[in-house]
Amino acid sequence: MTALGTHATDAQLLQEVESALQHALAEHPLAPRLREAMQYATLAGGKRVRPVLTLRACEAVGGQRADAVHAAIALEMIHCFSLVHDDLPALDNDDLRRGRPTTHKAHGEALAILAGDALTSVAVEVALESRLRPAEIARELASATTAMISGQVYDTLGGFPGTPDAGAKLRLIHDHKTGALIRCACRMGALCGTPDEARLQALSVYGDAMGLMFQVVDDILDETQSTEHLGKAAGKDQDAGKLTYPGVFGIEESRRHVAELLETALGALRPLGPAAEPLRSMAQQLATRTR
Ligand code: IPE
Ligand code: IPE
Ligand code: MG
Ligand code: MG
Ligand code: MG
Repeated sequence: MTALGTHATDAQLLQEVESALQHALAEHPLAPRLREAMQYATLAGGKRVRPVLTLRACEAVGGQRADAVHAAIALEMIHCFSLVHDDLPALDNDDLRRGRPTTHKAHGEALAILAGDALTSVAVEVALESRLRPAEIARELASATTAMISGQVYDTLGGFPGTPDAGAKLRLIHDHKTGALIRCACRMGALCGTPDEARLQALSVYGDAMGLMFQVVDDILDETQSTEHLGKAAGKDQDAGKLTYPGVFGIEESRRHVAELLETALGALRPLGPAAEPLRSMAQQLATRTR
């Protein structure tokens, strides 16, 4: 990701996220073995898409990044919890994550489950430390977490409401399991930057499109990239019988969906003008990412 005009560079933002996460996990009162497992799950190798979106969204509405740091790292903790539990034998049963053994492989299943639990509760505590609108931030985070977990249930166990066709099921799975946290990233950023409803709405539409796009791309990468390149097991979705965009629509049609979602995301940013340039650039990068 590249620097743009007067905006902070991606390297700067990543550094801010990394150091805030490290600090929060080092300082929180935790059983030593729990801390180690939580640090293992959180501190190595993630792309940090969600916290960076929160910081960028805050700046895009005229806010100060420092006001969004708590929300940003709280969300990354929830995301890391979702990955730890997603990888468990009862869910996707994966051994590799971010290029190294999954948390349950490195620390055992009991600590992986408990580290995921504690990342959730610590995340809420951290969100409540937000400088502005802490209750609203914590509510956004908690409700997005609940939606993500519903998505994991649809993805893993099905049990859809009504009788949706495959396309509608996919939308339900992806909007929940992945879309909810990415939309939340954008909305919390906006809430930390402005009380303005129109700008919050614009970033919600952007976040919706970015969230679905992110998982469509994840599905495509599962089929088209290697395990070494991704740092997580590739080619698993089909074998596991997962509903995916390439599985239902094929790769070419899935790529067209990505292009349409990118257009929707960029369209939503129009009213925000030049301040949203880093968010435009993130949309382009996430549409064309290869890992
Ligand atoms: C992986 O998310 C899980 C999905 C929701 C597709 P990321 O691709 O953001 O994973 P990290 O945080 O960079 O490892
Ligand atoms: C992940 O979906 C969604 C959540 C973790 C909530 P996937 O199961 O496709 O993610 P990866 O491919 O394991 O990262
Ligand atoms: Mg999964
Ligand atoms: Mg998985
Ligand atoms: Mg996947």
